Amino acid sequence: MKITVIGTGYVGLVSGTCLAEVGNDVLCLDVDPAKIKTLEEGGIPIFEPGLQEMVRRNVAAGRLHFSTDLERAAHFGTIMFIAVGTPPGEDGSADMKYVTAAARNIGKYMTDYKVIVDKSTVPVGTADIVKAAVAEELKKRGVDTPFSVVSNPEFLKEGAAVEDFMRPDRIIVGCDDEQAVLYMRALYAPFQRKHDRLIVMDIRSAELTKYAANAMLATRISFMNELANLAEKLGADIESVRKGIGSDPRIGYDFLYSGAGYGGSCFPKDVKALIKTAAVDAGMELQVLTAVESANDAQKHVLGTKIKARFGNDLAGKHFALWGLAFKANTDDMREATSREVIKDLLAAGATVTAFDPEAMPEAQHCFADLKGLSYAPNQTAALKNADALVIVTEWKEFRSPDFDTLKAKLKTPVIFDGRNMYDPKLVRGLGFEYLAIGR
Ligand SMILES: NC(=O)c1ccc[n+]([C@@H]2O[C@H](COP(=O)([O-])OP(=O)(O)OC[C@H]3O[C@@H](n4cnc5c(N)ncnc54)[C@H](O)[C@@H]3O)[C@@H](O)[C@H]2O)c1
Repeated sequence: MKITVIGTGYVGLVSGTCLAEVGNDVLCLDVDPAKIKTLEEGGIPIFEPGLQEMVRRNVAAGRLHFSTDLERAAHFGTIMFIAVGTPPGEDGSADMKYVTAAARNIGKYMTDYKVIVDKSTVPVGTADIVKAAVAEELKKRGVDTPFSVVSNPEFLKEGAAVEDFMRPDRIIVGCDDEQAVLYMRALYAPFQRKHDRLIVMDIRSAELTKYAANAMLATRISFMNELANLAEKLGADIESVRKGIGSDPRIGYDFLYSGAGYGGSCFPKDVKALIKTAAVDAGMELQVLTAVESANDAQKHVLGTKIKARFGNDLAGKHFALWGLAFKANTDDMREATSREVIKDLLAAGATVTAFDPEAMPEAQHCFADLKGLSYAPNQTAALKNADALVIVTEWKEFRSPDFDTLKAKLKTPVIFDGRNMYDPKLVRGLGFEYLAIGR
């Protein structure tokens, strides 16, 4: 099949590359010339395990192309994925300007039948907006070219995106048009050879499914974080509680970890957008999600609060080593990362910070360009130099089993603030550390 992917970010690049991997001819379009240049020169603009090799292989095979040419992109695919960003607008609702621009560009140049697929996370009703935008552009040109609009939200996780796309748990297709469903079935057949994972539903339900999934996951995290804070006060261990409740198959073990708050490009913005959709389009307050959001905003400051409780509210003259900047392990994505709040809290109290992250340092240097008092170390051990304590914010594998002797020797005081509950408290306390984790 010939496929155009509009928007070559985390979702667009992974989707386009995986679709090429199974034999399709794919053109990835982006309005950012720097991104396309990097890709054309054999690099990739993001860190995602396994992606670079897959991109190279498919470019070499002549199945994967990159372009900034809107007209070429609109002519190229029969299936046109829209995978542009939907960041939060001023009021928290999803900003739809990139989606509408992408739809208009299709309408401006298309000359034959298109299946237009919304892959971005978009509010309920977006398919109608896309349909109207394309129709309007066609009308301006005085043509009546047929097209279908499908909602096909993406569920990949950054850090495991290639694996998630190649072996999806489910593929949601929202569509009210038989012909487009046939295209989607054929497109996804190579990704579900063992059994059918495609769930076809009406468009609005598909759009809501994506928000419901992220809202549920965010709810589990905020729930566990709140219980962790309670466990600390009551002298219980949240890890034991997690095991105790996870063993119930109705609850399950996944996504029950407490920590220093969720971040990333999806949960914060999608929870916000769903609250906003409910308020504006349905006159409803989503009480559970409003609480999930405010619990998470507070949780991002738990590390800062613990550090001040230990070292005093005035941290002038104190210096901290910080491990982990990305919002989670295996990505360089820093959107809404907890590290942003922790660093701000420490600097605001007068401290200085030296940070290390295996992948996110270039992105951090870009995000924190104007921050004074923050420096970067070339590796995790170097970050410890002259530090009063260690603060762990991201659960990278290489932080799981550090050399505790070196750690103790390098820190001025042997204190670890662990925002991801990486260690066994008995073990590290036994080694002479003060260990301040979440709910332990
Ligand atoms: N990142 C994730 O883990 C993830 C997972 C599932 C769903 N999503 C959703 O997928 C969508 C994309 O997310 P992302 O993380 O890939 O975003 P991103 O910011 O990494 O990429 C979006 C890309 O779209 C490009 N773009 C914007 N307008 C364009 C236009 N008119 N034509 C062509 N390109 C254009 C931008 O330059 C950018 O490169 C969002 O709605 C997001 O919520 C993201």
